[in-house]
Amino acid sequence: MKRGFVSFVGAGPGDPELITVKGLRRLREAEVVLHDRLIPRELLDEVAPGATIVDVGKAPGRVCVGQGQINWLLVDWARRSVRVVRLKGGDPAVFGRLGEEIEAVRAAGIAFEVIPGVTAATAAAARLGISLTERGSSSMIVFVTGTDHTGHHPATLDWDALARAEGTLVFYMPVGALEAITASLTSLGRDPREPAIVIERAGVDGERVIAGRLGRIAEEARAAAVASPAVLLTGPTVASASVPSSVRHVLAGMGS
Ligand SMILES: C[S@@+](CC[C@H](N)C(=O)[O-])C[C@H]1O[C@@H](n2cnc3c(N)ncnc32)[C@H](O)[C@@H]1O
Repeated sequence: MKRGFVSFVGAGPGDPELITVKGLRRLREAEVVLHDRLIPRELLDEVAPGATIVDVGKAPGRVCVGQGQINWLLVDWARRSVRVVRLKGGDPAVFGRLGEEIEAVRAAGIAFEVIPGVTAATAAAARLGISLTERGSSSMIVFVTGTDHTGHHPATLDWDALARAEGTLVFYMPVGALEAITASLTSLGRDPREPAIVIERAGVDGERVIAGRLGRIAEEARAAAVASPAVLLTGPTVASASVPSSVRHVLAGMGS
């Protein structure tokens, strides 16, 4: 019986050149690739002819392959193949349900590795020339989910601590909860004048940036009909953002 091996590979945030050399090598060697919806499609051209490609992509609000079924497919393919790549958007370990997939593979006695990827927060910061940390003004970065497992604003987060955090906050999946997120932060004392940015489709065709202040950014993003995938960044270092000239939309300027 063949012994399968699963490589969880970070595909990066959308730019196909942002996968690691190691991740790309695993993709080229794979017999089976199970991939998310939010992966650069160009990467699938790297898969060897004859290999099997399985789209297990999940779209927000649409009926799709459930997590349990993804876990089952992963184990099933790993039992029948030697080299399986589970290609996940961004970094597999950041809001990617990696733990559940590792648990399934481990329980089936299948060996695995995790190859990290560029996560949306760092990709967005890089696009805007922002340093997420800065000596003296930003000594921490917090990656926060803007949507809980039920699809709503995560009320159970420690909003008080987030409001007081002296650093950069990056909200993933914030689109449906921008008003609730910004209101939670400012009502607990975070400065509504703090620079904030929403970046939609960072590094991908159709990229847009909405730059403004924390107290107004939700309204501005809503007026621009910002859609997923997008991240919200807020913190002192966001003030140094420079928006690439190729980007389609910039509403309120940072100086306003
Ligand atoms: C389920 S999470 C997966 C995150 C991924 N594992 C990562 O490390 O970036 C999906 C969220 O990541 C963010 N995201 C992913 N790609 C993005 C991109 N190109 N631009 C902006 N946000 C992105 C969005 O907040 C999106 O809703």
